[in-house]
Amino acid sequence: MSFKLQREELILTKNFIAGVWQDAVSGEVISVNNPANGERVAFVPNSNEKDAQAAVEAAVDAFDAWRATPAKQRAVILKRWNDLIMASAEDLGKIISSEQGKPLAEAVGEIAYAASYVEWFAEEATRANGDIIPQVVRGRKMFAYREPVGVVAAITPWNFPAAMIARKIAPALAAGCTVVCKPAAETPLTALALVKLAEEAGVPAGVLNIVNTASSKAVADVWLDDARVRKITFTGSTPVGKHLAYESSRTLKKLALELGGNAPFIVFEDADIDQAVEGLMVAKFRNGGQTCVCPNRIYVQSKVYSQFLEKVAARVAALVVGPASDDTSQIGPMINAKAVAKIEEHVNDAVARGARVLTGGKRLFTEQRSESTYYAPTVLADVDPSAKCFHEETFGPVAPITQFETEEEVIKMANNSPFGLASYFYTNDMRRVHRVSDALECGIVGVNEGALAAEAAPFGGVKDSGYGREGSVHGLEEYMHIKYVCQGGLD
Ligand code: SIN
Repeated sequence: MSFKLQREELILTKNFIAGVWQDAVSGEVISVNNPANGERVAFVPNSNEKDAQAAVEAAVDAFDAWRATPAKQRAVILKRWNDLIMASAEDLGKIISSEQGKPLAEAVGEIAYAASYVEWFAEEATRANGDIIPQVVRGRKMFAYREPVGVVAAITPWNFPAAMIARKIAPALAAGCTVVCKPAAETPLTALALVKLAEEAGVPAGVLNIVNTASSKAVADVWLDDARVRKITFTGSTPVGKHLAYESSRTLKKLALELGGNAPFIVFEDADIDQAVEGLMVAKFRNGGQTCVCPNRIYVQSKVYSQFLEKVAARVAALVVGPASDDTSQIGPMINAKAVAKIEEHVNDAVARGARVLTGGKRLFTEQRSESTYYAPTVLADVDPSAKCFHEETFGPVAPITQFETEEEVIKMANNSPFGLASYFYTNDMRRVHRVSDALECGIVGVNEGALAAEAAPFGGVKDSGYGREGSVHGLEEYMHIKYVCQGGLD
């Protein structure tokens, strides 16, 4: 690891099952590498079906006691987990930076973001109220209770290795569920450190289990087939999400799928252009453009097009690219060589269709490392709507921009996508705010705002971007079902 930690014991390299840190049954390991330079950071277990099965057994065994633990006590444990995460924010940020590559300040910011979900759901745990239903028949009382769904399988991505775990596991534990979790093979160390802090916070053995693997299918198939796993929560690609939905139908599991996005970002001529430029910088270049809610299609009304291009190009050209360990870095490396190859393909395709490169448009630092994972923050102008980058997630620091004439036309273009996660638009016309918010087909809308996610807000999409919500009161409901109890003979 290129950083020194205050608590070196937060670097864990084993699975955690039934309260025991353990190797994979096979003894196999996978290498975790720093995306900045390809250097090995650690080895973690390469688990198979047997480890996945053991994790389910542990979660099943722990469920009855955990669900019976008073909500207030679960809340106290979660609150302690939040405090421990915040106390180690710097160390956890260093772990993220080492395995995921994002600049340290951004990584530490992600830890605060992750902890905000733990704190929120600690508070929500005690508010999972049911209903007392007004009598419909004399001599009867009717109740609706909220109950935990049971064992939850959480499959999490590499782009926000702490926040995505927290926003799935905290509500599950708050609801009284037990968890089996498979973090992304690229970023297991952050997950393991969080689990270690959960253990220190008093989460009982078996309630939270973590299995690392390079063979997602081997582990996921066990969880999909086991009827005792009652819910799958997944953040990742749409094809994998659809596969999980299809395969989990055999045991009719509850699902939450946070899948791909292809966010439109619309700038109307009546917008505050400087505000729109700042909003784009936040929304597009956070995490080097590797987020599901990143604007991927930027539409600017013709009257303000050149002004917007000029301002954005200047801001993007000034972004500092470099390793996480360098305090000045604003954009880190991409997660791996495949990710950079996709970015290159999208930029080349857009240029071949007539786009102009205003800044960027190339890999950086290739003289130091031929397979460099750094890509220059890029602005493309005059992008043809047929370009690949307007249809598939680029997942990189590329802002593809085109112009439009009318509101009606741009709404059509924005909605002409199978995806529907986030959308953004900038305007100062109050009537347009409501008209356009209503018309956009997506789960999240940013109006004159580029940073949308928050623990108190429901995060999730429509169409091929999935279903289910994370965060907010709805985030807890995802892990509960309703039981209706009717008591008769009372007259
Ligand atoms: C994601 O990219 O999946 C999550 C982004 C966020 O939490 O804002």
